[in-house]
Amino acid sequence: MNLDSLDEILRLCWSSLFRGAVQSRDEFHTPVMATYDGKQPNARTVVLRETIIDTRTLLFFTDVRSAKIDELNHCPFATFVFWNPGKHIQIRAKGQLTLHHKDQLALEKWKQLPPRNRKDYATLQAPGALVETADNHLPDFWSEENLSISQTDTFVENFVVLEAVINQLDWLFLNRIGHKRASFEWNGTHWLKSWLVP
Ligand SMILES: Cc1cc2nc3c(=O)[nH]c(=O)nc-3n(C[C@H](O)[C@H](O)[C@H](O)COP(=O)(O)O)c2cc1C
Repeated sequence: MNLDSLDEILRLCWSSLFRGAVQSRDEFHTPVMATYDGKQPNARTVVLRETIIDTRTLLFFTDVRSAKIDELNHCPFATFVFWNPGKHIQIRAKGQLTLHHKDQLALEKWKQLPPRNRKDYATLQAPGALVETADNHLPDFWSEENLSISQTDTFVENFVVLEAVINQLDWLFLNRIGHKRASFEWNGTHWLKSWLVP
């Protein structure tokens, strides 16, 4: 890998984001997603579900009742921070988000989710609601071992696919003999590539 070539670094960014989505143990599988709530920044860890390189798209799943949805409805932009401590590489990806709720994309992704993975969208109250106890707040039948698709289908109501189209990448490589940093901006037709002081 030639880390003195902006073209190669851009390719590396996207191949790393692709791997992060398909490999659950990859460091880039769980970026931090930052949004703006109108008064201050907010950030949380999310799972990168899919990377579509051709369209500069990252997909994430969430609960329609979570705070980030309100934030994105007011300000549909987010920054995703990825850090690979083994390779000493940070990528910050900025983009505009579209929310998919009960549309074709959301229904397609929901169908592919096994019942046990649907629990993140099945709490009885909204994520972040104040409650009296520390239990999981899932419906009673959730403890049954043989959870069926039909038992969990109703929770599609809470399921959202976040589609982030990335327009800016900031790549940082930490190195004992000198760090390197590069910036990539999508200008509507191609990526503008520059070196930055790290
Ligand atoms: C490793 C890890 C992965 C997570 N993945 C997701 C996810 O894919 N989607 C999601 O909405 N929340 C995910 N969460 C929970 C969020 O970090 C956060 O607590 C939750 O979404 C509520 O955030 P909000 O109140 O800012 O909307 C994950 C948390 C951790 C620790």
